Amino acid sequence: MKGIILAGGSGSRLYPLTLTTSKQLLPVFDKPMIYYPLSLLMQAKIKDILIICLPRDLKAYETLFGDGSSLGLNISYVVQDKPDGIAQAFVLGESFIARDSVCLVLGDNVFFGHHLESLMQESSQHEEGALVFGYEVRDPSRYGVIDFDENYKVKKVVEKPKDPPSNYAVTGLYFYDEQVASFAKQLKPSHRGELEITDLNQMYLEKDQLRVRLLDRGFAWLDTGTHDSLHKASSYVQTIQERQGVQIACIEEIAYRNGWINLAQLEVLANRVSSSDYGAYLIKFLEKSHVLCKN
Ligand code: G1P
Repeated sequence: MKGIILAGGSGSRLYPLTLTTSKQLLPVFDKPMIYYPLSLLMQAKIKDILIICLPRDLKAYETLFGDGSSLGLNISYVVQDKPDGIAQAFVLGESFIARDSVCLVLGDNVFFGHHLESLMQESSQHEEGALVFGYEVRDPSRYGVIDFDENYKVKKVVEKPKDPPSNYAVTGLYFYDEQVASFAKQLKPSHRGELEITDLNQMYLEKDQLRVRLLDRGFAWLDTGTHDSLHKASSYVQTIQERQGVQIACIEEIAYRNGWINLAQLEVLANRVSSSDYGAYLIKFLEKSHVLCKN
């Protein structure tokens, strides 16, 4: 399975923060927002990753991750000239996807939860049709929303409905089979001029090939689209990290735990950021891992 992180979009609800930089590079507490979706793909053991960003931001992403090899990844980039919709990711990523299945994660989605790693690993085994996740929210009108029948069978998915049929939003984490690019190419722009991911999901549903899995209360799915929600996501991450002394979305740690890099490589990564608390955490993790290796 391959992975795509969509880091395009104008981020206009975060102006003036995003006038000069990509929304997905803004901090969610102590690390760039994109670390969170990247860590999800890594937890799913996905190594081939395509980052889609605006031409303006390409250099910044390349500086941050390079070709991904320092993390044991294989990262490539494609630019999206203008934000023409999430489903355009599959048109832009068609040759990258080739004949594989693919996981798309939106660059501004932050997930956290005890079973996340096993959920990601299970989901990455998904090879037929589409798999999306529903999450109960207070304000579903801001999202793609799931309409269920009385037996909780999905009837349809609707994008930002004024009158939401349920409180279940579709999160920004999607798994698709190899048909995805050809389906995406059949989509027509919506009234807001975008190739909608919801229309793509609806297409799978009409072929009876859409599976929806509901995420329970143990998961946090956080929004980062507005100043308020960005601030709250940062506070959430800070609270958990401080309380438990563990890092959320520490990509270097995950790369090591996955066996993709060795201790010497981890040390280089830790030294790069050693003057911050994030770096101090990595150095401590490195020392503990050295001791474990010796024993
Ligand atoms: C997009 C999708 C929506 C989905 C949401 C998840 O919304 O269109 O279906 O529920 O991401 O973050 P947007 O970020 O474009 O408002």
